Amino acid sequence: MEFFFRPQSVAVIGASHSPSKIGHQILRNILSYGYKGKVYPVNPKGGEILGKKVYRSVEEIPGDVDLAVVAVPAPLVPEVLESCGRKGVKGVAIISSGFREVGNRELEERVVEIARKHGMRVLGPNIFGVAYTPARLNATFGPENIQKGKIALISQSGALGIALMGWTQTEEIGLSAIVSVGNKADVSDEDLLDFFDSDPETRVIVIYMEGVHDGRAFMEAVRRNGKPIVVIKAGRSERGAKAAASHTGSLAGSDLVYDGVFRQVGVIRARTVRDAFVMARALSELPEPRGENTVIITNGGGIGVLATDAAQEEGVKLYDGPDLAAFRRVMPPFGSFRNPVDITGMADVDSYMGALEIAQANPNIHSMALLYCETAVCDPLELAEGIKRTYDGRKPLVVAMVGGERTEEAIRALNSAGIPAYDAPEDAVRALKALYLWKKYRKKRSKQFADTQ
Ligand code: COA
Repeated sequence: MEFFFRPQSVAVIGASHSPSKIGHQILRNILSYGYKGKVYPVNPKGGEILGKKVYRSVEEIPGDVDLAVVAVPAPLVPEVLESCGRKGVKGVAIISSGFREVGNRELEERVVEIARKHGMRVLGPNIFGVAYTPARLNATFGPENIQKGKIALISQSGALGIALMGWTQTEEIGLSAIVSVGNKADVSDEDLLDFFDSDPETRVIVIYMEGVHDGRAFMEAVRRNGKPIVVIKAGRSERGAKAAASHTGSLAGSDLVYDGVFRQVGVIRARTVRDAFVMARALSELPEPRGENTVIITNGGGIGVLATDAAQEEGVKLYDGPDLAAFRRVMPPFGSFRNPVDITGMADVDSYMGALEIAQANPNIHSMALLYCETAVCDPLELAEGIKRTYDGRKPLVVAMVGGERTEEAIRALNSAGIPAYDAPEDAVRALKALYLWKKYRKKRSKQFADTQ
């Protein structure tokens, strides 16, 4: 699987001279994102595209080709693959549509046969491509830029996957990889789970899924995987499940069955795309909590109560202990040191930092949610700077900030420093819940894996 993500050289077959065509856009993305390996456009017309010499066939390329991205009309794909096989290409990512998804099963089978004959792996067909940020590889026709991070995204939906590339960028969510699986004629979800499990650049795997082809293989791949897996499983409703079945042709199955399987093998299920990244952000940045005791620190009673409700609903345990009285030191007499610890609307950056230090130093506290409502006494950007300076990274800290533009800026500043920050208290609690869930699932998975050995 290596050569799909860390190829030394990439050929774009069907690299078009016309900027509006997909083959051109893929080549442009590869070049502009800063890929350092060799890049070879292939087109029988020859010439030059984007300053690169064009080869008339992949077999004319002088050096080795690890990855070929194919963007020619479906009927031409078999002959292109034969040519790749003769050249000794290792992996082929087939962008072209027009295979099993439109009932053209035979053409897809032929493609797989050719690939097997030559010992090549096939990603797709019917995909938007593959990107791997540590190698500065963006072999997709999605947005040009992708923020580097530790979350790998596997998408069963093409359009949604492309949209998520743009969305993660505006939300400042860093990705290690994004990969479109399309019809999964050869490379499967399980192959990708195995690859990302062994990939040191990936800490969390997010899958947008409409269904699985082989439930047993999926469960086994999850069991042998040592990283958190967050799944957005579409088709929760009966009608949605039918739509999913006709979209990807996968077994939509009963949603309750999926729910049960996810729980059994330790997959974290997200309700929405946003929910998935709320959790993935925390899972990719924070250490595992050593125990169950959470403390909420807030300058606003209201958001404190919202977070408390969320904690109760999500099963996040709020700590009650006499040592919470230590927080008295950083609040006015009318504050409340009971959890949620309310340091009041008078709290400035120093009071927040004092509270954070108390929570960090207390061994009975295992995770912290710091909540903030924008006030004139505490500037959000200064607060963000204070948190960056004071947080020692030894136990999980999530932040929720509610306010205007400066608050949004502060959230971005914290996220880019690797401190998960959200614009809603419920999200911060949900992020902690994901950490607790993963702690439980990690143990469960390794036990199940040991039992199968
Ligand atoms: N080797 C290399 N290049 C070849 C070729 C061959 N054997 N045969 C033709 N080409 C060239 C063409 O000359 C053309 O280049 P040009 O524009 O410079 O003339 C280029 O490949 C593209 O071929 P074209 O026939 O113009 O196709 P297209 O760009 O209109 O469409 C696809 C090609 C793959 C994009 C289209 O068939 C398709 O499948 N689109 C859907 C893609 C998609 O949505 N995928 C799923 C996303 S989730």
